[in-house]
Amino acid sequence: MTETTVRALGATAGPSRIVLGVCGGIAAYKSAILARLLISAGHDVRIVPTDSALQMVGRTTFSALSSHPVHTSVFDDPEGVEHVRIGDEADLLIVAPATANTVAKLAHGIADNLLTATALVATCPILVVPAMHTQMWLNPATQANVQTLRDRGVFVLDPAEGRLTGSDSGIGRLPEPEQIAQTALGMLCEQDLAGTRFVISAGGTREPIDPVRFLGNRSTGRFGIALALNAAQRGARVDLVACNIDRALLPNHPRIAVHPVGSAEQLQEAMNSCASGASVLIMTAAVADFRPAHSGESKFKKDGSGAAPDITLVENPDILKGLASDRSHGALVVGFAAETGDEHGSVLDYGKKKAKVKGADLLIVNRVGETVGFGDVDTAITILDRDGNVLGEGEGTKSQMAGTVLDAISLSLGSLD
Ligand code: C5P
Repeated sequence: MTETTVRALGATAGPSRIVLGVCGGIAAYKSAILARLLISAGHDVRIVPTDSALQMVGRTTFSALSSHPVHTSVFDDPEGVEHVRIGDEADLLIVAPATANTVAKLAHGIADNLLTATALVATCPILVVPAMHTQMWLNPATQANVQTLRDRGVFVLDPAEGRLTGSDSGIGRLPEPEQIAQTALGMLCEQDLAGTRFVISAGGTREPIDPVRFLGNRSTGRFGIALALNAAQRGARVDLVACNIDRALLPNHPRIAVHPVGSAEQLQEAMNSCASGASVLIMTAAVADFRPAHSGESKFKKDGSGAAPDITLVENPDILKGLASDRSHGALVVGFAAETGDEHGSVLDYGKKKAKVKGADLLIVNRVGETVGFGDVDTAITILDRDGNVLGEGEGTKSQMAGTVLDAISLSLGSLD
């Protein structure tokens, strides 16, 4: 995500007062970038470091970036009663990086500096982004403190995996500032999907030929991920059934649970087990229509004769059709039609036909090909109802189009009330 996309996301939320708490972890330098992203998105950012954070990054950097004085103690400006004023006025409190020490203080209501005192006053949403060494993160004390915060409604992002302070690596790294900014700004969005649960499939299935080879497709999962993030930011809980998605692309959001699967049959099982009681089921995943009837237990070998193995294919279940025909789950069903036009019909002609065949409540048609549709590229969509009537259309980034699709879903959910 670039600074421009963060700005675009923030622009929809309007200017807010954000308090950015910074603790004394080595990742404190990244909070300067985070502050910059939040300010670029049009928000007023007040930075409240701990004393240890100022060992890592200078007070001047934070005050120059935020255009606000930077204090660490309630005694720095006693007449201003800063912790009460800042805590009261905040629309969002972010603590990034949050050390194990500050996580423990927040969990236990200790208020021994301006940041922790402000956190006790704040009634706004709170996002805590821990970063620490793997052992400290995995320590039962830290895990219990994180659970206490989560139970209290605080958003705690899981740390990323990767290089830590020294030459070591593991879980405990601060997620990238862009990702934190995206989650944070999402918390300021209108919560029109609060109270709903979405089940979204994304990515492409892989049908094993043998233990190393598979039949697959070019789907990266980006559209499904954009839908999951957008829904979560608007208040929905999301089960993301992720088919073979690159780990680096998977979202880290407290309201998104990721269920990794491989083949179409595994996808069907996961969708069915998540479906009951869901509000919306979205089949974004590119599902292989056929799979090898048998997959070899060991790798197929060339025997030197030039003869190729015969691979017999059998049809996979149509998961979307199944979810649309058995309505015991009670959810709104949304399908995708990745289409190419040809001399017999346009993308929309094929989409309209598919809308009738699939029986989903909404079908999102998009054009795909060698250079369009797959990966990190813009996309054009048309939203159809079950009879093939056009409800809306749009063109833009996958993130923007995810917003358009969710607007249509939000409207449909509203009309079901
Ligand atoms: O049948 P086709 O692949 O053209 O339809 C696309 C839509 O149907 C997508 O929503 C896709 O996730 C879903 N699908 C499915 N099961 C299949 C094939 C596609 O659910 N076996």
